[in-house]
Amino acid sequence: MRTDTAQPVRLSEYRAPDYLIDHVDLDIRLHLSATHVRARLSIRPNPLGRPGAPLTLDGDGLSATTVLLDGGALDLGVIAIGPERLTIAEPPRKAFELTIDTIVDPSANTQLMGLYRSGSAYCTQCEAEGFRRITYFLDRPDVLSVYTTRIEAEKAQAPVLLGNGNLVESGDIPGSSRHYAIWHDPHPKPCYLFALVGGDLGSIHDAFTTRSGREVKLGIYVEHGKESRAAYAMDALKRCMRWDEEAFGREYDLDVFNIVAVSDFNMGAMENKGLNVFNDKYVLALPGTATDLDYAHIEAVIAHEYFHNWTGNRITCRDWFQLCLKEGLTVFRDQEFSSDQRSRPVKRISDIRALRAAQFPEDGGPLAHNVRPDTYLEINNFYTPTIYEKGAEVIRMLKALIGAEAFRRGMDLYFERCDGMAATVEDFIACFAEVSGRDLAQFMRWYSQAGTPTLKATSAYDTSARTFTLTLAQSTAPTPGQPDKQPLVIPVALGLVGSGGDLPLTTPAPHEDGGASARECASGVFELATETRKLVFHDIAERPAPSILRGFSAPVKLDLDSPAEDLLTLAARDTDLVNRWQAIQTSANRLLAASVATIRMGDVPAPDARFAEALASVIDAFAADPAFTAQAISLPTEADMAREIGVDVDPDAIHMARRELRRSLGLQLQPQLLKAYEALSTDAPYSPDARSAGARALRNTALDLIAAGDARTGADIAMRQFQSAHNMTDQFGALAVLSMIPGDQREQALDAFYRTHAADHLVVDKWFALQGLIPEASTFERVQTLMQHHAFTYANPNRLRSLIGSFAANLTQFHAADGRGYDLIASVVLEMDSRNPQVAARLLGAFRTWRSMEAGRRLHAQAALQRVAEAQGLSADVRDIVDRSLA
Ligand code: PHE
Ligand code: ZN
Repeated sequence: MRTDTAQPVRLSEYRAPDYLIDHVDLDIRLHLSATHVRARLSIRPNPLGRPGAPLTLDGDGLSATTVLLDGGALDLGVIAIGPERLTIAEPPRKAFELTIDTIVDPSANTQLMGLYRSGSAYCTQCEAEGFRRITYFLDRPDVLSVYTTRIEAEKAQAPVLLGNGNLVESGDIPGSSRHYAIWHDPHPKPCYLFALVGGDLGSIHDAFTTRSGREVKLGIYVEHGKESRAAYAMDALKRCMRWDEEAFGREYDLDVFNIVAVSDFNMGAMENKGLNVFNDKYVLALPGTATDLDYAHIEAVIAHEYFHNWTGNRITCRDWFQLCLKEGLTVFRDQEFSSDQRSRPVKRISDIRALRAAQFPEDGGPLAHNVRPDTYLEINNFYTPTIYEKGAEVIRMLKALIGAEAFRRGMDLYFERCDGMAATVEDFIACFAEVSGRDLAQFMRWYSQAGTPTLKATSAYDTSARTFTLTLAQSTAPTPGQPDKQPLVIPVALGLVGSGGDLPLTTPAPHEDGGASARECASGVFELATETRKLVFHDIAERPAPSILRGFSAPVKLDLDSPAEDLLTLAARDTDLVNRWQAIQTSANRLLAASVATIRMGDVPAPDARFAEALASVIDAFAADPAFTAQAISLPTEADMAREIGVDVDPDAIHMARRELRRSLGLQLQPQLLKAYEALSTDAPYSPDARSAGARALRNTALDLIAAGDARTGADIAMRQFQSAHNMTDQFGALAVLSMIPGDQREQALDAFYRTHAADHLVVDKWFALQGLIPEASTFERVQTLMQHHAFTYANPNRLRSLIGSFAANLTQFHAADGRGYDLIASVVLEMDSRNPQVAARLLGAFRTWRSMEAGRRLHAQAALQRVAEAQGLSADVRDIVDRSLA
C-alpha cells in the first residue's frame, strides 16, 4: 500500500514521457494466490523526451522474478528493482524489448485495484494507477500501446476468459486442466483501460448493427442465475449505442462489446476498452428487486461507460489533471441521453439536486478544488462531484454560450482532430473557439477557479417608463489556496413572466447603458462576464416576475430579491419547468430558514397559508406530469437547508423546522394527496418507462407527505402498499415511509423485508441503507447493532457504503451534538484504511462540511479528524483527505 509520504504532483511540471511503449504482450496465468504475469514491452525513446534518460517503470507492491532486455539477462548494476519502481539507468538509445515476470496474489488484494477476486471471479481495475499493481509499466495516460493479452486459467474455475478488443484465439492446453484465450485490441490505449476477467459466469448475448452496417456482438456477464436481471442493461446498451450515432455521430469500433458485473467494486463502473467492468448494482434489475431509480441509474451508467469509448478511450487524457476532459464531458453526454429517453426537465431537476447535494458542499468546504486541479497528492481522491458533475455543467454552459449548432461542430472537430490522442482541456476548448469564432480565454476560468459563484439579481420596474431593470452581480468566496477570485463568464438564461406569458425581451443596443445584443435577446441567454451587469428591458407593460437562470443555466447560487408573490407566480406558470420547480424550492427555503431562526430563538414557527395553496394547485394539476409533480412537492432536504444556512448550522433545529413544515403541509393537503395517490394506483404490470415511473414517484412522494402530516393514516396506507406491492419501487417506497414512524410496525416491516430478500445482496444493501438514514437518536445504536449483523462486512464496498455511508449522510445523527456520530465514522475510516484506502478516504469525505456546523459540533468533528490524522501508517488517500479537511 502506498502510505502517507506521497509527493505532490503538479500540472505545471508536466513533461512528456522519455520513453514510449508501442506494444504490450501479456501472458497471464491466473492462479488464486500466485498469478504469473509475463509482460513483453516494445519500448523506444520518445523523440519529445530527454535523450538517454533512465527508464523508470512504475510499480505498486511488485517484485520481478525475471527481467530480460532484448531476450538477455540484465546486470544487477544497471537495473534497480523495488516494489514501487523498476529503473534501468542507461537503456538502449533505440527501440528495445523488455520482458518482465511478476507474480501477484489476487486473493490477498483487498484494495480492489489491480488484479483481484470478486466472488469466484478474477477481475481487474486499473484506473487510475492500478496497472502498476499487475506489472511494472509507464503507468501514465499519455503512453498509448497496442495490447495482446493471453489469459490462461483452470477450465473449471474460469470457463469464461475475457480481455480488451477482439478474441483472436482460444483453446485447451493439452494434457492439463487449463485453457487459454488470446485477445487483441488494435486501438492504442493507456494502461488504465486494460482489463481482464476470468470466471464461471452466466451471460446474455445480443447484437447491434452500426450505422455503417458493421455487426457488433454484445455480451453481459453476471453471476449464474442472474441472467434475466441483465436484460434491461442490454436494452439500455443498444439504445445508447444508437443514440451516440444520432446525437454525436459516433459509432462503435470493435467487433465485440462486453460488460461484466461484479459485486466487489470501488466505484460505479469502468470503461475499459471493449470490456466494461461494472459494480453489479448498475447492471442487475428485475421489477421485484430494483426501484425505478435503480433502473434510471443503470441506464445512465451503461450509457456513461459506453460513451467513454469516444470521450475517454479514443481520445484520452494527457495526464490526470485533465480528468474532467473525459469525465465531465461523458457525464454531460449521459445526462443528454437520459434526457432524451425520459423527461428533459425532470432529468434536469434531479441532476440539479444531485449537483447541489454533492458538489456544492465540496466546493464550499476544505476539499474545494478546480474542475481541473493543478496539484494532487493522491489522484484517487479526485474522482469527485467537482470533476464529474461540475465538469458536466461547464460543458453545458459552453453549449449555451455558443449555441447547439456550433457546439455540435466543435464536438465533430474534436473527434476528428484529437482521435487517437492523449489530449488536454486546451485542445478541447480550442475546437469550440475555432468553430464559433469566439475567444474562450475567460471561459477557461471555469476550469481553473474553484468555488461556487454567487449570482445576485436585483430588479426594479419603472411604471411610467415601462422599463424593467435587472442588475446581475457575481462574486466567489475564497477557497483553499485561492484567496482572490476573478469574474467568470456566466450564461444567464432569462425570461420575464407577465400575466399572459413570457414578455418579449427588448433592450437597447449593447453599447448603451443596460443594453444587450440581438443574439442575447433572441436566445434569452445573457452573458455576465464582468462583476456586474445591468440589463434594461423596454416596453414592459406590467411588472413581470423575472425567471432567472432558466434550466439552471450555470452552476451558481442564485441570490434573488424577488418578493414571495413573484415566486408563487413562477411556481404557477413559468414556461420553464425547472424554474417552476425552483420557485417552490426557493419559497420553501425561505420559509424554512425563517423557522429555523424562530426555533433557535425558542419560539414556534407559524405555518404559511399561501405556500400550502401554491402546492395544492401544483398537486391538483398532477395528471399533466406526475414525475414533475413529485419533484415539485419534494421539499428541500435537511442537507439542502444546512447548505442554504451555511454557517453555525444546527441540524436539530433544521430537522424540527422541516418536520413542522411537512407536518402542516401533509395535514392541509391530505385530500389532494390522497386523490393523487388513488388516481395513480394501477394493477398494470410493472414497466420501467418514464411515464409509469413518474406515476409511482408521485404516489410514493404523496404517501410520504401524507405520513408526515398524519402518521396513523400514512402508516396504514404504507403498510397496505408494503404488503400488496408487486414491484420494488412500491415496496421500498412504503418501507421508507414506515421507517420514519417509530414503533413495532416499523420493526416488523423491516424484518419482513429482510427475510424476503436476504438472499439478494443488492436488496439487502437497501435495507441497511434505509436504517442508517433514520433521523432519530436511536439510529446510532441501531447502526452499531447492524454492524454486528452477519450480513455486514467491511470487505464489500457497497455494503460498507450502504450502512456506514448512509449514516454519514444522516444530517442529525452523523452530526449528533455529542460527537458520537463523528467518532463512529472516524473509527470505521481507520478500520477500513488498511483494507481499502480508496473507500476509506471517500467515507472520510463526509466531514467536508464540518466547519459550517455550530461551535460545539465543530469541536467534536475536529477532534475526530485529529484522531484520524494522528493514526500510524495511514494510506496516502486518507492522509490527503484528513490533512486538507483540517487545514
Ligand atoms: N472512470 C470511471 C467512470 O467514470 C470511474 C472509475 C474511476 C472507476 C476509478 C474505477 C476507478 O466511469
Ligand atoms: Zn466516467
